[in-house]
Amino acid sequence: MAEKNSELMDKIVSLCKQRGFIFPGSEIYGGLANAWDFGPLGVELKNNLKKHWWKTFVQERMDIVGQDGGIILNPKVWEASGHVAGFSDELIECKNCHNRFRADEIDIKKCPACGKNSWTEPTKFNTMFKTNIGPTEEKSSVAYLRPETAQAIFVDFPTIVQVSRKKLPFGVAQIGKAFRNEITPGNFVFRTREFEQMEIEYFFNPKDGWQKYFDQWLEDLKQWMEKVGIDKSKLNFREIPDGERAHYSQRTIDIEFEFPFGQKELFGLAYRKDYDLAKHKIEYADPETNEKYVPHVIEPSLGVERGLLAILLSAYSEEEVKSEKRVVMKFTKDIAPIKVAVLPLSKKPELEKVAQEIWAGLSKKFMAEYDITGSIGKRYRRQDEIGTPYCVTVDFETLNDQAVTVRDRDTMKQERIKIDKLEAYFKSNL
Ligand code: GAP
Repeated sequence: MAEKNSELMDKIVSLCKQRGFIFPGSEIYGGLANAWDFGPLGVELKNNLKKHWWKTFVQERMDIVGQDGGIILNPKVWEASGHVAGFSDELIECKNCHNRFRADEIDIKKCPACGKNSWTEPTKFNTMFKTNIGPTEEKSSVAYLRPETAQAIFVDFPTIVQVSRKKLPFGVAQIGKAFRNEITPGNFVFRTREFEQMEIEYFFNPKDGWQKYFDQWLEDLKQWMEKVGIDKSKLNFREIPDGERAHYSQRTIDIEFEFPFGQKELFGLAYRKDYDLAKHKIEYADPETNEKYVPHVIEPSLGVERGLLAILLSAYSEEEVKSEKRVVMKFTKDIAPIKVAVLPLSKKPELEKVAQEIWAGLSKKFMAEYDITGSIGKRYRRQDEIGTPYCVTVDFETLNDQAVTVRDRDTMKQERIKIDKLEAYFKSNL
């Protein structure tokens, strides 16, 4: 089983590299450990995921607005939020091989690298990345790269209330980079030092009770995960016990996914109480009752790359077709990086001309690709591997009947469609 799992992970990593979804960054300089770049298909996939989240939780809801705060905030934000004092992991070092680990992540009876059992005392290691503002490197110029997007939402809360004219309960959403100087990054894009988060801080009057909001958020997240193609049979909802939760949380559920390297946190849902707003001394005044209070907060927090990895693993499938292996990425249509591929059957100029016109027309409405290289079978296989829902084949008959063959990725069924009906066909199917 373990071997099979690591095999799947290897297949995903190699497909991602080969097809240009995700590959090691700074490669010409030997790479940078655990840093990954997203290629032409990867960035489409990533944008589609973020767009889907934004549409679902911001644009289609009346009770959530968006914002885009800074990566570098006033360092006082991180002092007040408790991150300067408490955003740390316990680091231990093996005295024999000098490898370093997070104390909470390993069984210290045996070093995972050399098998010895001889450790330094654990030391606290703050995982916020430090930088300096301005030309001097002194204590007063120290600043941090944000380790979560959430804090900008908290400190901007009074302004957002004013400009959005929203009344509680309502939420603020943000997507953006976060940085953590992780002791043990790894497992492809699962844990990296630079990553993206999609976070919502949902504010409400504590008199309403928090449980119903928490339950509703869990339900909303479940529905959304299914819509973007995360295999629900691989999900586990873990109640985080007292003592293991982050310093600000009264209740946390880790949404775990069965990754090939183990069941690990995919996303998190936390009840942050009034922890942050109270620390920043922010109150809310109800415009109708004039009641003043510190709102409480439910926080669904999602890592973009972890979400992508779960989607890639859920989408991967192998089938046997005419005794040959067919690899298909069964992305949902919203998430698929390319929606339609236009494939002329031959390089004859009269066919290419028609095919290019079709491509140019479709490109204005759908993310479309044009491919002329290799046999048609090979081109279908490539589109299956990158998860393109439809292929349009332009053949010699097209010149006579003004129609093309449309092939469905999942059923492999082919349909003849008139060129002037193509746009309407994809509008209703994509
Ligand atoms: N604002 C709450 C917060 O940041 P978290 O559980 O520390 O909570 C939220 O992080 C999510 O961000 C995680 O569930 C995960 O999806 C993602 N994440 C956290 N650290 C990460 C890392 N080093 N690499 C990739 N994703 C990470």
